[in-house]
Amino acid sequence: MPSENLYPFQWMWDSGFVALGTSHYDLEKAIQEIECMFSGQWENGMIPHIIFHSENETSYFPNFDFWDCSVNDGAPQKPKTSGITQPAVFGFILEAIYDHHKDNAEVVSFVKRVYPKVVKYHRFLYDYRDPFKEGLFFIYHPWESGRDNSPIWDESLNRIVIDKNLLPDYQRRDTSIADASERPTSYQYDRYVYLLELGKKYKYDGPEIAEHSPFLVQDCMMNAILIKSNQALIKLGNELGLDVSYIEAQNQISQNNFVSRFWNEDLGTFVSYDLRAGKQIAFKEIGGFISLFAKLANETQADRMISYLQKLHNDGYYLCPSFDVNSELFDSKRYWRGPIWPHMNSMIYHGLKYYNQEALAEIVKSDTVQLVDQFGFYEYYESQKHLAKDLSKGYGGNNFSWTSSSIIHLLSHS
Ligand code: GLC
Repeated sequence: MPSENLYPFQWMWDSGFVALGTSHYDLEKAIQEIECMFSGQWENGMIPHIIFHSENETSYFPNFDFWDCSVNDGAPQKPKTSGITQPAVFGFILEAIYDHHKDNAEVVSFVKRVYPKVVKYHRFLYDYRDPFKEGLFFIYHPWESGRDNSPIWDESLNRIVIDKNLLPDYQRRDTSIADASERPTSYQYDRYVYLLELGKKYKYDGPEIAEHSPFLVQDCMMNAILIKSNQALIKLGNELGLDVSYIEAQNQISQNNFVSRFWNEDLGTFVSYDLRAGKQIAFKEIGGFISLFAKLANETQADRMISYLQKLHNDGYYLCPSFDVNSELFDSKRYWRGPIWPHMNSMIYHGLKYYNQEALAEIVKSDTVQLVDQFGFYEYYESQKHLAKDLSKGYGGNNFSWTSSSIIHLLSHS
């Protein structure tokens, strides 16, 4: 579970980071974490963003009965799941676990067992979410991006006109557990529910989603993570003597189109793309920096991104704020609109190392460790140092799983 009270089930990309952290001290548990996640994989290959292991815990919203995934014949009866997905982290996580434990026969057989399931998941993204065959897949719900309320989704969400009579009755639960000022607004929440209903109407994988969804976006971060995981699957597959031809061919298309679709020369970063509006979503935000993790930026592009991070550090920010600190939409307290997220830092840390930015990578690591050391294992943290110094804790949920796993993982690298 990401956090016992706020998120009492298994979340997809959290689970990947949790397995990675856990693998540093309890391999068996790490393997179990991933196998458990894959027990919820759909017949079409989708890995759902939530697995509801317990059907007795019904107070969460939206719960399994609200998702009602039985609309899709290929959704498992058990465990119950949600109907959307999250970032494709399992390829690179398998690779990281394998690299540390190559000599362990149990790990090798685990990797061989899960490998085809990860390929099947990537195939889902290419088959169901890439109608123009660009090698870049779309999402139709902000929750899929893992950056739920980032300002980059605002314009697409504003496009949704809600008819209150058609919106099902619902009661949020998150704001009774965490401070409402640190959570998405109710305006946003109505739109999250609207898009959930749209997915359900089209069985969560129908072509009508691409036709009708007002929210249809190619997320630069999710596509960078998919490419990173493709690269990992190619390397792993070659090492283990598995067939990599499908992933290699798809990845070639993805990598060829990534830069031209997502690079924004004015901002000097990668940005997401609004398929509905046919234009880039021109904001500086944390997702663009994950491209470093998949080595997608050329030297010049990387230099611009690196100088920006260096400047943020010089200007008194912890690295890496989740949104452009100079934008009027920046809110250092509200979820994905400004605060620091440790698991994002763990990916950017590795990305900076790939570009030989040892010193900056160290700042990312030590900022993360310092925040957690000072404030506890929270969900996310204040990004402005002058505000953080008057605080006694982090933001959002406490005892947060991927925060602790990211710390374990970061501390295991020098
Ligand atoms: C929120 C975050 C998402 C995460 C989930 C569980 O929805 O935005 O990234 O997976 O919480 O921690």
